Amino acid sequence: MLIAEKKLEIKEIVKNARSEGRTIGLVPTMGYLHKGHVSLINRAKMDGCFTVVSIFVNPLQFGPTEDFEKYPRDIERDIEILKQADTDVAFIPSISEMYHNTHLTQVDVSILSEKLEGVFRPGHFKGVCTVVAKLFNIIRPDRAYFGWKDAQQLIIIRKMVADLDFNLEIVPVPTVREDDGLAASSRNVYLSDQDRKKACVLSKALHKIRKMVELYKITDVRILLEESKKIIETENVELQYIEAVDLETLKPVTSIKKNTGILAAIKVGNVRLIDNVIWE
Ligand code: PAJ
Repeated sequence: MLIAEKKLEIKEIVKNARSEGRTIGLVPTMGYLHKGHVSLINRAKMDGCFTVVSIFVNPLQFGPTEDFEKYPRDIERDIEILKQADTDVAFIPSISEMYHNTHLTQVDVSILSEKLEGVFRPGHFKGVCTVVAKLFNIIRPDRAYFGWKDAQQLIIIRKMVADLDFNLEIVPVPTVREDDGLAASSRNVYLSDQDRKKACVLSKALHKIRKMVELYKITDVRILLEESKKIIETENVELQYIEAVDLETLKPVTSIKKNTGILAAIKVGNVRLIDNVIWE
């Protein structure tokens, strides 16, 4: 596996792969890799891509009171995981390589960025879109892989790509879960054993919703949300939001149909967790 730290290096590596006729697949990450990330890499490899994985903890997407400094990092371990997954190249830039100290520009997919997560993390998606736009411009992938785990992020990136005429395909990948149902996340390491048990109430509630829709054909959002809130209330966690929305506009919907989903966030102690159930 190649490792590039500089933009010029990664551009050269990608140029060579492209000249050999390879399709370029990008998997953007913030590292501390887990099986969710690996499923994106596997998908890119399965698609036959020359697979570039970026690891960059992007300061721009963390609020002033958020966990940028203590976001989990372990580059050596990440590199091992990337090698195991048969990644072609890791792009691991420094902050100064990505943002020169006069950087001003930010990409704002308005409206979509202000809903749901945006209420609790103002400015977050501006940071995400800015770094993802930069990665797209540096690497110029044919495809970029994003997880449904971060449904709102995926929807916003798709909109950015459409609005700004980025010439690539966004490939969505299903959420990977731990054995207890918890969606795999780098932030799960923040959870104590006791909090982790509490955190599982969210995936349990969403699983129940899926069953109600798919098995019992209950599509009335009022009934589904009522039931899920009842389940979440059985644990001492803070429900920040749970909403049924259209998967393109993020506007609320009253019944579940194709292209809708239920997106939720809870806080367990100091740890925020998001999860969702979607009908693509
Ligand atoms: P990060 O949280 O590291 O996630 C990188 C990618 O992995 C995202 O597309 C995310 O949706 C996906 N992912 C995370 N957990 C997953 C799971 N359990 N199942 C499937 N996919 C999962 O998301 C970011 O980084 C950043 O915002 C980034 C896009 C890299 C921009 O900085």
